[in-house]
Amino acid sequence: DIISTKEILLDAKRNKYAVPAFNIHNLETIQAVLEGATELKSPVIIATTPGTVNYAGLEYLVSILKAGAKKTNIPVALHLDHCSDEDFIKKCINAGYKSVMIDASMESFERNIHITRRIVEFAHKQGVTVEAELGRVGGQEDNRIIDDKDASLTDPNMALEFADKTAIDSLAVAIGTAHGVYKLEPKLDFDRLERINEIIDIPLVLHGASGVGDGDIIEAVKNGICKVNIATEIKISFAEEIKRYFNQNPTANDPRDYLTPAKSAAKKVVMDKIRICGSENRV
Ligand code: 13P
Ligand code: ZN
Ligand code: NA
Repeated sequence: DIISTKEILLDAKRNKYAVPAFNIHNLETIQAVLEGATELKSPVIIATTPGTVNYAGLEYLVSILKAGAKKTNIPVALHLDHCSDEDFIKKCINAGYKSVMIDASMESFERNIHITRRIVEFAHKQGVTVEAELGRVGGQEDNRIIDDKDASLTDPNMALEFADKTAIDSLAVAIGTAHGVYKLEPKLDFDRLERINEIIDIPLVLHGASGVGDGDIIEAVKNGICKVNIATEIKISFAEEIKRYFNQNPTANDPRDYLTPAKSAAKKVVMDKIRICGSENRV
């Protein structure tokens, strides 16, 4: 069955590895994630933004995930990523999501605490885990765009107060990553991450992990990152394979032909990231 991220992330924290969360957009990318994770015996988190829920349909997504989770013996969580609409979060929880991110990081510190706390109260009553963000991860995810000048790194002391006052289950930290591809190689602030990890005991989440080097991900996991969010690299691998297929087969039109190699390419990314995060053979 679809489970929350509670046990998944606590086990990761105890044993110092991270579980990747993959943003998916369709049946084939869901299958790529579940097949890749099952082969490597890794717990896995499937993430959808509100935009993806609107695109694919809430009931379709939950049904496909339930079917997928039943076919495998690995822990599978379905997570609502970056949602700032409280009613939308409640709708997803009522439909079967067991993990959500309330993203009020654009609000003032006080309002972020207030809104997040309210969602935590609603979610915890139903066994649903809550992630929230303090500081602002830059870049673009769906229609959430944060310019470099508006991005801001997480303050460790504020993060402690935020985690205490909201009772969240995991904290998304801003330490220099950004959503999407990087124009320049990202410089992660590991000192900051280390300080946050020293004073906060809930699992930490790294956003914008596409384009972050393997070595940096490994270093981040050593310093308390328990969930690594990957969206763009899945999109790119899937799209590039479709483009390649049509270049070589310009008259093709059967989705089973052009989506199968795309699915394999996405699955390869999934398996790479699982190995880098260290979540292989944890089931
Ligand atoms: P990337 O698109 O950089 O992988 O970021 C993913 C993310 O943080 C999803 O919340
Ligand atoms: Zn994100
Ligand atoms: Na990125």
